[in-house]
Amino acid sequence: MSEIKRLVSGIKPTGQLTLGNYIGAIKQFIKYQDEYEMYVFIADLHALTLPIEAKELRNNVKNLIAVYLACGLDPKKVTLFRQSDVPMHAELGFIMTFNSYIGELSRMTQYKDKVSKIASNEAIPTGIFIYPTLMAADILLYDADYVPVGIDQKQHVELTRDLAIRFNSRYSDTFKIPEPLTPKIGSKINSLSNPLKKMSKSESDKGTIYLLEDLAIIRKKIMSAVTDSGNEIIYDPVNKPGISNLITIMSALTNKSIENVVNECQNDNYGVFKKKVADVVVNELSLLQSKVNDIQKSGIIENILQEGSYKAIYEARKKLNKVYRKVGLR
Ligand code: TYM
Repeated sequence: MSEIKRLVSGIKPTGQLTLGNYIGAIKQFIKYQDEYEMYVFIADLHALTLPIEAKELRNNVKNLIAVYLACGLDPKKVTLFRQSDVPMHAELGFIMTFNSYIGELSRMTQYKDKVSKIASNEAIPTGIFIYPTLMAADILLYDADYVPVGIDQKQHVELTRDLAIRFNSRYSDTFKIPEPLTPKIGSKINSLSNPLKKMSKSESDKGTIYLLEDLAIIRKKIMSAVTDSGNEIIYDPVNKPGISNLITIMSALTNKSIENVVNECQNDNYGVFKKKVADVVVNELSLLQSKVNDIQKSGIIENILQEGSYKAIYEARKKLNKVYRKVGLR
């Protein structure tokens, strides 16, 4: 009998959730929950890498858990928890930081990207440098086989593998070596206003669809998405990044292949096609938003988080004890 594989992933509750998070990560979680054993968490410690108001963080956490549930994550199938409720994440994160090299952390694209946006006379927060080691701890605590993420997080999972291999060879076999799992379609949803860049929580408002924003604004953003020269619906990310991004969004949300979407829409001009994309996105998000509202009113969130954290703590403590023994702390 082959053993059931385990998946671990999380989302950082900074800013508002985007369509990129939904397609690149949350939709994958839903897809895999019946097939695999899953640990999904709210990466609230990660949210502290850059300054954030306590009130905003609490609000983001509440929204994120409600979105997880509204999207269909089932707490009976998935262990759903808040990272800071399980102190072993921070503890193993500390060990992982001490097990890492400055060179490898300096090579992380996200780090370089974030640093490049900080003015030369401003201080660089240490958090943005070491946060991949905390992410490694998140994954390694639970013996994950796979880590479902968008393409932007793949490098961090690869670093996690390097750290795990290094630890295993230094202290004997301790960690399972995880693999990243990126969706075939939608591993990088791009900005609507600059389709060469990733859609992100911190980038331009115009180019980002937030899951909980006003539906009329979402429609407007899609209708004014930057498109390319020509007027044909062709999937060509290099020469037609704008229209290809919209095709990807349509394909991911309708579960139709890229070819099917292109075939079905080949006679549309850009305006007609954008309207179809807007209809699909608005339909999906309007359903989601009404569920989020119901869940927030229902008062079930704290119970679910408590149960999830008990299970996570049980697993995480076993692994951390093993690590502490191996390094000589116990
Ligand atoms: P975060 O919060 O930036 O993003 C959460 C997930 O959403 C994916 N994603 C996207 N996918 C496609 N297109 C986009 N435009 C897009 N934007 C974001 C991300 O790839 C990610 O899967 N460090 C992580 C959170 C984390 C984590 C972990 C993930 C902490 N510990 C352990 C996996 C395992 C982060 O900041 O993701």
